[in-house]
Amino acid sequence: MIGTSSMKDAVPCQQTRLELVRFGKPQEQGVLFLNHEAPVPVPCGSQVLVKMLYAPLHPADMLTVVGFYPGVRYVVEKQPGFVPGLEGCGVVVAQGELATIPLGMRVVPLLGEEAGSWQQYVCVEGKQCICVPDDISDTVAAQLFVNPLTVVGLLKEMERLVDLYENPWILQTAANSTLGRMMIALAKHRSVKTINVIRSSATLEELKQLGADVIIVEEQDSQWDRTVFQVTEGKGVAAVLEAVGSELGSMACSCLQSGGLYLAYGAQSGKPIRVSNSDLIFKDIVCKGFWLSRWFPKQPPHVVEDLFDLFRKGVFEPCIQTVLPLDRYLEAFRLQREKNRRGKILFSLQRES
Ligand SMILES: NC(=O)c1ccc[n+]([C@@H]2O[C@H](COP(=O)([O-])OP(=O)(O)OC[C@H]3O[C@@H](n4cnc5c(N)ncnc54)[C@H](OP(=O)(O)O)[C@@H]3O)[C@@H](O)[C@H]2O)c1
Repeated sequence: MIGTSSMKDAVPCQQTRLELVRFGKPQEQGVLFLNHEAPVPVPCGSQVLVKMLYAPLHPADMLTVVGFYPGVRYVVEKQPGFVPGLEGCGVVVAQGELATIPLGMRVVPLLGEEAGSWQQYVCVEGKQCICVPDDISDTVAAQLFVNPLTVVGLLKEMERLVDLYENPWILQTAANSTLGRMMIALAKHRSVKTINVIRSSATLEELKQLGADVIIVEEQDSQWDRTVFQVTEGKGVAAVLEAVGSELGSMACSCLQSGGLYLAYGAQSGKPIRVSNSDLIFKDIVCKGFWLSRWFPKQPPHVVEDLFDLFRKGVFEPCIQTVLPLDRYLEAFRLQREKNRRGKILFSLQRES
């Protein structure tokens, strides 16, 4: 229950939060507003008030700001002062009269459409909080949910739909992403072999160190599908984990074995893929998508405990590019768009620059 915040801290009446005023590019005038006078909510019933410590900036948050994330348009129109931010961690500083989570407990609040993580205080139902064990740091807890759990879910989906004992080779695009790096580590831990496609060679050595079996640098090898078939002795890969789309995603899809699985979970290029009819007919490939929001509610409770164990065993290492206070949000959005990052950009929510 180590909290970096004192339980004796008085809870202020006002807080700073980053509000989405209208959809658009983050740097455009009038899209985001840093409100220093937003009210701090008061918990009631089984709610707790969480003093937020850290929250990441995810690609899905970028999509929220521009208005492409499903469900958000309706919420923003309905609720002025909407705060984005998919996840984060904090410490319980006040309770409703029926709350059972103790003061000082560090938690990851599972935030819905009503409240995002880019604010200093958030009120949530106690049952919507994951309590963070002492041996998990604040910065790990802040990015516990979205990426690590998706990595676990993607691997489970592959294991369910293709035989990774018969053919242990999988291919992933955007392999240098925070999620891609975790996938390399988990696949190695589970004896699944990865072919990793990256845009440039800047981070190649780091991915090797993580356990990447094969790394393809797209800009150095325009016909990299041949390399995939060489590595897999003509068979192709059992599954493709795809987060880019466009020509890259199309080529990745063409590298599947007969009966192989194309699992889309991101769209970094914003462009669709082309799937060959002959691959669908003669190879009987399966194309489907994965969304954590759909997958997680169907999982047993121990899936989160299993996740903590992966951090304890050192399989998952936190990947952090930089930590910035919320008032430097424009810099955070600029860094998020830069190539060859080495992990997440985190907002430190109680710090000011
Ligand atoms: N479906 C779900 O439930 C779910 C859950 C979590 C995450 N995701 C998705 O998983 C993906 C990775 O998330 P993350 O947080 O790990 O991202 P991240 O750390 O921000 O990394 C983004 C990655 O995208 C790559 N990229 C960006 N634009 C690209 C383009 N036009 N062509 C090729 N590569 C491009 C970057 O390549 P460089 O390294 O070369 O710069 C970088 O590796 C995102 O698409 C995210 O939306 C989906």
